[in-house]
Amino acid sequence: MSAAIITLKTQENASQNLIIQRPPSGLSLQGRISIPGDKSISHRALMLGAIAEGETEIQGLLLGEDPRSTAHCFRALGAEISELNTELVRVKGIGLGNFQEPVDVLNAGNSGTTIRLMLGLLASHPGRFFTVTGDDSLRSRPMSRVVKPLQQMAAEIWGRKGNTLAPLAVQGQALKPIHYHSPIASAQVKSCILLAGLNTEGKTTVTEPALSRDHSERMLKAFGAELSIDPETNSVTVTGNAKLYGQKVVVPGDISSAAFWLVAGSIVPGSELVVENVGVNPTRTGILEALAMMGADIQLENQREVAGEPVADVRVRSSQLKSCTIAGDIIPRLIDEIPILAVAATFAEGTTIIRDAAELRVKESDRITVMAQQLNKMGGKITELPDGMEITGGNALVGAEVDSHTDHRIGMSLAIAALNASGTTTIHRAEAAAISYPNFTNTLVEVCR
Ligand code: S3P
Repeated sequence: MSAAIITLKTQENASQNLIIQRPPSGLSLQGRISIPGDKSISHRALMLGAIAEGETEIQGLLLGEDPRSTAHCFRALGAEISELNTELVRVKGIGLGNFQEPVDVLNAGNSGTTIRLMLGLLASHPGRFFTVTGDDSLRSRPMSRVVKPLQQMAAEIWGRKGNTLAPLAVQGQALKPIHYHSPIASAQVKSCILLAGLNTEGKTTVTEPALSRDHSERMLKAFGAELSIDPETNSVTVTGNAKLYGQKVVVPGDISSAAFWLVAGSIVPGSELVVENVGVNPTRTGILEALAMMGADIQLENQREVAGEPVADVRVRSSQLKSCTIAGDIIPRLIDEIPILAVAATFAEGTTIIRDAAELRVKESDRITVMAQQLNKMGGKITELPDGMEITGGNALVGAEVDSHTDHRIGMSLAIAALNASGTTTIHRAEAAAISYPNFTNTLVEVCR
């Protein structure tokens, strides 16, 4: 078997086309892969390091565009953050409540986690004024989900469309604690309110309808915050006037990035891949459960705990997948993996149903519409549902011109689909991968045999 021909072509407008030409004889994927650091944990390590007292050391930070946006914002707020690299990043914290008033707008780029978590911290800094914005995508994403609860805490925030869209202006206040019952299972909402509660007198509680990722809770505890968790009701309470102390953080590999290889290894016949050092926090492993339901051949090896987060090497061998239904409480535990699960379902026998995932419509792009449109261009059979998709598998895909819509996870999912499509696929605006996975194309070339 010969390898796929993979080329990256930079266009006149600086955007990149990723061209994937599958050899007529097919291909197989082989090798051991290391993946970039977890995006959610990388953001939190930089942020908590910045508001802690003393120095925080971060190993394995994701060098994607999103954590760069976080570092940029928190430097403007007064934290000293060394040059970003994967070996060791040092953050000299300024202590809780000590942000300086930045001389310019804080730009969160493409990153929902940066803007929403940061808003909780900014709103609880009395006497200081901040402005925040982001790129085209972020400026169209809903901010009311954090603005409303912060306003209930007496925050003063203004923005377009009734204070629901960035750019936003924040006049920091002494906030009052609340018990917030979030209508959505969102770690960004939960974390925003908990971070606001840190510098607020009294106890602030967030209850969510289903458990979302718990990296904030784990890391806040490790940094010395007083936190109580009620797993029965999915509630977390933080005690205000907290003091955080700098820590050593080791960032595991991002299971959301591993997901591309787990699906690729499953659907490309004759493949065997080992993805090393994958974070397998149970609030993130919905993808492993979904692929198991689909009959994937996936094993966890060398399971261990690194700096408070469970980690494993994950082996995948190709297998014939079958359809399944993905809905309910599992959705928040695999929300970012639904684009690549749609690719898996396209190659599965039968019709896969994904429901309760309306949140996908307000991610970096409308991931329901975009994924359905783009995979259908390649011969997929995806019908949009208001809160998910119906995917009929088993139709051979044919290479086509497709577009990431500047959404990193869409671009990478389409690249994996292209490995199993006949002929040539061109993915427009493929540079979006750099948001969470700057080395994606190199690894793609490495594993194609
Ligand atoms: C994230 C939470 C999720 C996820 C996003 C990262 C986080 O968003 O989709 O990529 O780091 O807290 P929601 O909290 O909006 O579901």
